[in-house]
Amino acid sequence: MKKNPHLKRQQQLHRLLKREKLNALALNPGPDLSYLTGLDFHLMERPVLGLFSPKQDPVFVLPELEMGKLADLSFPTQTFPYSEDRSTWPQTFQDAFQQTGLQRGRVGVIPRRLRVLELQFLEAAASSVDFVDGQKAMSALRILKDQHEIKSMQKAANIAQQAFQAIRPLIKPGITEKEMAAALVGSLYDAGSDPGLPFFPIVSFGSNSANPHAAPTDRPLDETQIVLIDWGATVDGYYSDITRTWRTGNMDKELLEIARVVQIANQAGREAVQPGILCSEVDRCVREVIENSGYGEYFIHRTGHGLGREAHEEPYIASDDHTPLKAGMTFTIEPGIYLPGRGGVRIEDDILVTEEGCRSFTDLPRELRVL
Ligand code: CO
Ligand code: CO
Repeated sequence: MKKNPHLKRQQQLHRLLKREKLNALALNPGPDLSYLTGLDFHLMERPVLGLFSPKQDPVFVLPELEMGKLADLSFPTQTFPYSEDRSTWPQTFQDAFQQTGLQRGRVGVIPRRLRVLELQFLEAAASSVDFVDGQKAMSALRILKDQHEIKSMQKAANIAQQAFQAIRPLIKPGITEKEMAAALVGSLYDAGSDPGLPFFPIVSFGSNSANPHAAPTDRPLDETQIVLIDWGATVDGYYSDITRTWRTGNMDKELLEIARVVQIANQAGREAVQPGILCSEVDRCVREVIENSGYGEYFIHRTGHGLGREAHEEPYIASDDHTPLKAGMTFTIEPGIYLPGRGGVRIEDDILVTEEGCRSFTDLPRELRVL
């Protein structure tokens, strides 16, 4: 990709807004706003709002002190800056809606992002506007990744894998989950990750691995343990999210068996992915492997989630998401089996749907190897 794609994305959004019968989309700082504009603002007590509407330049309501960020944009904007005097803020919001002709009709917001703080300013400034769920328009846009986004995601996967390889010699009996997670974070930055990691790594030893979202503890590694690590890197705002499970020595036969089943389920998922198949069908293929082996009740989460600028985004590889896959979609496939009190195994890959089928950004060995 040359230059920046933001204007094109805004034009695509305008078409989607018309389809959803929305006059505009109102966004606060976050992945949607940065996707459309390249702008990053901190989410803080001073509200920042971007309004996107067909046939006009993006509208920004923002603190005067943030105006500098708009200077380098490659597209024109309409700006409504406010001072440090809070009493002027409601009027500034009102001006933004009135002077742009948006004081009526339906305006989309993103329910999982917009805060009550912004919503109260919006509702007071445009009392005749119906603020409705605009997630669909935004997701339809972000769900298909372009070549530049795909490259960033591949790079984020490579960095995550290199970062793990680099700390591998440190993994010895006695190291704690926290120490290993901290080493991995440092290694992710050494390998080239951007500062904002998708999430703090999950490192869980032994029975802790039976909790899919365990936070690292002071538990030390010993000779006969499962080691489950779930980690990711960030490149240009795009994430990777990978899980592998290892062992440190001889292991309970049943844990070896669940590792074998999870690996087959992961492979079944990757083999099922192709344009046209529904997310729910991919989930079914994966779940069937685990159910048929008798461990269905221990696979306690969906098969995967969309991945991109967010660690969880559309589409969801779940029984209730019937989105047909298209080339350019990216998501995880991450089956797991968790035996309470004993241990768990998860194998998570980052998948790109291609015209021919799929490609996995992640390719570290998947079998339960000895570390
Ligand atoms: Co993960
Ligand atoms: Co994940």
